[in-house]
Amino acid sequence: MRSIKQIENIEGKTVLLRVDFNVPIKNGKVEDDFRIIKSLPTISFVLEKGAKIVLITHLGKDGSDSLEPVIKRFWEVAKFPKDKIEFYENVRKFPGEEKNDPSFAKKLAALGDIYVNDAFPVSHRPHASIVGIPKYLPSYAGLQLEEEVKNLSRAFQKPEHPFLFILGGAKFSTKIPLIEKYLELADQVFIGGALANDFLKATGYEVGKSLVDDTNYGIEKVLKNKKLILPVDVVVKSGEILINKKSDEVGKEENILDIGSETVKNLASLIQDSKFILWNGPLGKYEEGGGNSTKEILKLVADSKALSIIGGGDTVALISEMNMEDKFSSVSTGGGATLEFLANGTLPGIKALE
Ligand code: 3PG
Repeated sequence: MRSIKQIENIEGKTVLLRVDFNVPIKNGKVEDDFRIIKSLPTISFVLEKGAKIVLITHLGKDGSDSLEPVIKRFWEVAKFPKDKIEFYENVRKFPGEEKNDPSFAKKLAALGDIYVNDAFPVSHRPHASIVGIPKYLPSYAGLQLEEEVKNLSRAFQKPEHPFLFILGGAKFSTKIPLIEKYLELADQVFIGGALANDFLKATGYEVGKSLVDDTNYGIEKVLKNKKLILPVDVVVKSGEILINKKSDEVGKEENILDIGSETVKNLASLIQDSKFILWNGPLGKYEEGGGNSTKEILKLVADSKALSIIGGGDTVALISEMNMEDKFSSVSTGGGATLEFLANGTLPGIKALE
């Protein structure tokens, strides 16, 4: 990737800066500004070189969300001259964005002289503001994008061993290439979250009313791998109460919400022995009371001597809530993009800057 540090003669120019301020909003307020904070070094770099900035972001899925709360929070945390930065509209509201329509990309490109992508979390989308604009403008990677690529690449470029990969969240079918890859690269692959339900079900255990992905083709292939570690016990919701149960004792009416205490203990000892830990996705359904293990394990990873790389939107939201952003070697701003980068080693938005 061409780096923003390589840009010459930037003074007096307008930089079209694609950021990802797709942040959680509740009651008209930004709930977590991690992505906004992470964009500030690039903005500061560009302004110090004497350029102006047009910021482009999407918010929400269909582009109908107003950027107002985001802009408000941005100016609360960003201490820059107001006349040097402008926000474009929520770019996703234009149909040409998701279609990567060349005429829309050209229209966006006309807003600036130089394009910078600092939007790692959306760089897996072949959208106009990600892969279209670079066809029409000199294009560079921002500091955060570079940082993400450098940090996440450690997972597949000579990682230190013992290497523990912890994978949670849901949607087994989207994670199979990732699981296969890290069963080769890592020493252990621990599976938690709703993903573990799929594995427990494939083992032949009852998973009751727990969330499962019925398109779990290919699970048998990896199930017998000795590096794969599944929860030996789980926390289930049984009626209105939460109970810790062995993984093979879940009832038909019960719902698995978290990994159990014995499993946390086992994972704690793996963490202690590891030199490199890569973690993506929560280990329990924390919105329904299954957040304890994720919090406990986050603390253990933070206190361990291992190099630790954490990703995935939900885990990151918890990290922010616990004020632990600085306790890991690196916290990725991405969700889907992080998974795709870890699986493929690149993203469409990165290729567009080569
Ligand atoms: C994210 O939050 O993962 C990114 O902003 C991408 O959003 P999207 O899944 O709506 O493309």
